[in-house]
Amino acid sequence: MEKKLYSINAIYHTPNDIIRAAKAVRDAGYTKFDVHTPYPVHGLDGAMGLKETKLGFVTLAAGILGAVGMISFASWVAVVDYPQVIGGKPYWSWPAFVPVTYEIAVLLAVLGTVGAMIAFFFKFPNTSHPLHDTPYMKKVSSDKFGVTIQAEDPQFDEKKVRDLLKTTGGEVEEVHYTEEFLTFKPNTFEPKFLLLLAGIALATSAGGYLYFNKVLYLPPFDWMVEQPRFDVQSTTDLFDDGLTMRLPVEGTIARGFMPYPYTLGAKADSVGKLLVNPVVKTAASLDLGKRKYLTYCSPCHGNFGSGDSRMNGQFPNPPTLHSDKVRTWPDGAIFHTITVGQNVMPGYQYQLSREERWAVVNYIRTLQRAYNAKESDLQ
Ligand code: HEC
Repeated sequence: MEKKLYSINAIYHTPNDIIRAAKAVRDAGYTKFDVHTPYPVHGLDGAMGLKETKLGFVTLAAGILGAVGMISFASWVAVVDYPQVIGGKPYWSWPAFVPVTYEIAVLLAVLGTVGAMIAFFFKFPNTSHPLHDTPYMKKVSSDKFGVTIQAEDPQFDEKKVRDLLKTTGGEVEEVHYTEEFLTFKPNTFEPKFLLLLAGIALATSAGGYLYFNKVLYLPPFDWMVEQPRFDVQSTTDLFDDGLTMRLPVEGTIARGFMPYPYTLGAKADSVGKLLVNPVVKTAASLDLGKRKYLTYCSPCHGNFGSGDSRMNGQFPNPPTLHSDKVRTWPDGAIFHTITVGQNVMPGYQYQLSREERWAVVNYIRTLQRAYNAKESDLQ
């Protein structure tokens, strides 16, 4: 069987020769040709008439994909998956995403570019090329310069190509496909290939593990998880009081918490004038007030606020909430009493939220109205 021709090549000895030859081949109208030199020769791409590569678009697309993907991922983590208040900043604090977005954009751009080169230029999983291991390749990768015109060029004619290359002063030779190359069928699932992949994976992970654990993290470097740290509820000699757990800095206010400025010493009557009831009496809010009243107040004040305690003398009986005093109190005065307490009655600001305390106030108003119903209430 006659061997199939891959290309006709010519070997030259100087960079000037190869530039002249490349120009001649291009001017003759060949498109499927290539030039090989042992080192980069300036002006060669111009002489060959190479167009600017489109690889940049792949880089751009991969970079944009990386940036958009990373911003979305970081936003999702910071806002939806694991919202954390850090330094009092909002959840979606975008300046924090800039470094990682930049890194991932560059990473994906690079990987995309290399991937595209492997896929499109090297036609992966094809791993060989007809020029591999030829005498031609040996020459042009040491000290010679070569042009190769492929047989699949549309205007390829063996005699014309030979003549053209000869006129440019090259030593003409030809390259045939090898039997092996023609019969090669890339098979990604070939056991040898998979075994090689597994070997590479094993070697890199073992190498990485040893490097990080034995070389890079020798003292004084250390893994973060193994750093000395204080456990909660433990003691230390770092602080004067011997406690590892610290109180927040004085004046710290928790998010969503409204500090209450008045203390037990403040008179309910005067504080009451300063506070405005913000809770509108709706069915839902009154129902909330009722539930909280029955849970937290009724044991002492009775189910309807008349002071019929269920404590059987274990706690001083409170006065009725239907007295003229409490009825004419502003809402704020009751709120103040619930919040900080009054004499023996404890405050309930830790059991009941602000909104719940106002709801209880509204519910007490409802009880008072029921106890002192007027003619007009019946209509
Ligand atoms: C452990 C029993 C107890 C519980 C529970 C309790 N109180 Fe009191 N409350 C008292 C006592 C006792 C007094 C009277 C305190 C005093 O000597 O001034 C009082 C006083 C009051 C006063 C002032 C009455 C006045 O005439 O001065 C109001 C208003 C009040 N309580 C509302 C509430 C509300 C609302 C709740 C539920 C959030 C509640 N209390 C829960 C025992 C209790």
